[in-house]
Amino acid sequence: MNKNIRHFLRVSDLSYNEIQKLFARSTVLKKQVEKQVFEQVLQNRTLILLFEKHSTRTRLSFEVGMQQLGGNSIVLQMRDTQIDRGETIEDAARVISRMCDIVMLRTFEHSKIEAFAKNSTVPLINGLTNEHHPCQVLSDIFTFQEQRGDILGKTISWIGDINNMCASWIEASNIFGFKLHVSSPPQYKHLLEELNISQSNVEYFADPIEACVQSSLITTDVWTSMGFEQEKQERLKTFERWTVDRRKIDAANKDVVFMHCLPAHRGEEVSADVIDGPQSVVWQEAENRLHFQKALLEHLIKINEA
Ligand code: CP
Repeated sequence: MNKNIRHFLRVSDLSYNEIQKLFARSTVLKKQVEKQVFEQVLQNRTLILLFEKHSTRTRLSFEVGMQQLGGNSIVLQMRDTQIDRGETIEDAARVISRMCDIVMLRTFEHSKIEAFAKNSTVPLINGLTNEHHPCQVLSDIFTFQEQRGDILGKTISWIGDINNMCASWIEASNIFGFKLHVSSPPQYKHLLEELNISQSNVEYFADPIEACVQSSLITTDVWTSMGFEQEKQERLKTFERWTVDRRKIDAANKDVVFMHCLPAHRGEEVSADVIDGPQSVVWQEAENRLHFQKALLEHLIKINEA
């Protein structure tokens, strides 16, 4: 057991003050990229990225980020490793963490990332589990604050599936003090309670348009997350009224922004005119994964060596 290592497995693993420092550093790092200046603060450091699910943004943002910081990255697909042939996650963690300075893991059950963390001698970052997607949600809040200022006291609307993104938004609402309106088909409402996260800032709405009233940010995700493909046809029907379309944008504040962690399915969880329209900041949101995660990599390596 390596109890003293600080990992980043969920939003609540970082304090409000730490996140504010990370956002400030992300802004500096972003400006440096614009000027093509790269601080080589992670020279000779290695990040290992272990994927059990598909990825475009997560893989690229971590690999490019590590390169820009002067370090190296190695990508492992879990199906190519001995884990796929029965090596335990605990043994894999003991070995992989001896070969590098930091690890990112994308997997299915959150219990698997916790098992890896317990046996890792280096910090571990959650690159998405079925239950949490903390890098994405903190990058999204960084993006919101760039666009619209402090998120404190604002209303954020989560429209669609009560999934890992929704869970990370709930954790963030407790840390940042914003109101979170969650709207999902009533038959999925029980998932909110099952998340087992304090919901003091969360309000559930059966009507997705009502959930968008007074909103400063409307955000959504695919209706069928990775690992739930067998439910796709049923979900297409159940979530029909939960498409983020013009009517929902019009119900919100005039200066509302739209976010989607991507990949998106136009005509399902979002209409083409919204994701490609003036309120959409999805491309800035995707780019900010790079800047925020560079700050995160630097922070986790530094605090664990202090
Ligand atoms: N949003 C996100 O995590 O994208 P990828 O699945 O492409 O990594």
